[in-house]
Amino acid sequence: MLRLPVFLLSLVVALAIAPAHAGDMAADRADMVRTIEDIAADVTIGTGRRPISRRVLDVMATVPRHAFVPDPLRRYAYTDRPLPIGHGQTISQPYIVALMTDLLQVDAEDVVLEIGTGSGYQAAVLSPLARAVYTIEIVEPLAASARERLAGQGYDNVTVRAGDGYYGWADHAPFDAIVVTAAAGHVPPPLIEQLRPGGRMVIPVGAAFTVQHLMLVHKSEGGEVRTEFLLPVAFVPLTGGH
Ligand SMILES: C[S@@+](CC[C@H](N)C(=O)[O-])C[C@H]1O[C@@H](n2cnc3c(N)ncnc32)[C@H](O)[C@@H]1O
Repeated sequence: MLRLPVFLLSLVVALAIAPAHAGDMAADRADMVRTIEDIAADVTIGTGRRPISRRVLDVMATVPRHAFVPDPLRRYAYTDRPLPIGHGQTISQPYIVALMTDLLQVDAEDVVLEIGTGSGYQAAVLSPLARAVYTIEIVEPLAASARERLAGQGYDNVTVRAGDGYYGWADHAPFDAIVVTAAAGHVPPPLIEQLRPGGRMVIPVGAAFTVQHLMLVHKSEGGEVRTEFLLPVAFVPLTGGH
């Protein structure tokens, strides 16, 4: 067996571990997840506190948010705040991504629609939780780069389309869950139509460039729609021709 002096052996081990660890930023991600848990313990959602499920937190501990932000901002990737991604758009705050994902209560067999792909991060978080994720982005270059990024990271059950998400994606409807990550003045009727009975939608509703309200929409098995306002939020507006 090859014998190495102890200091040389430690150097070899350090070199083997350090680049992978530094590049993957797992420790920063674990800190981000702890921050999300702390915020969830403090914030009132609807009528009470809402801890984020372990399943969602575990996924967020694996998705490399640093790969979804522009290179110069990578060192801020695991701080709990939205960051610019170009074209006047943002990647959402990690706590809000966790909360919206949790509210959707996605099952392994579920098909999910996201409106507002942006960087692709929210779709990447949904990917391991669902059977398929369909996501629509109105800014074509963002849709193209998110598609490439998601495929490069191996999120193979995510399909990205450039277009106006107000109208949903009828070809793949009905959806078990729908998440809208841009603020709408009202809940788009095509999205309610494309939600499966028993399904859930999470959407920020309110005027552009003010505080909006995060709304949870339930569609009962009988097709009855019930809405619940959960907390004030600030999202970029849902644009398009509707
Ligand atoms: C807050 S960002 C989304 C963040 C994204 N979910 C992520 O994980 O990076 C909102 C996105 O919605 C997109 N958007 C706005 N109006 C839209 C519409 N009508 N249809 C599809 N996407 C839209 C914006 O271009 C922007 O990229």
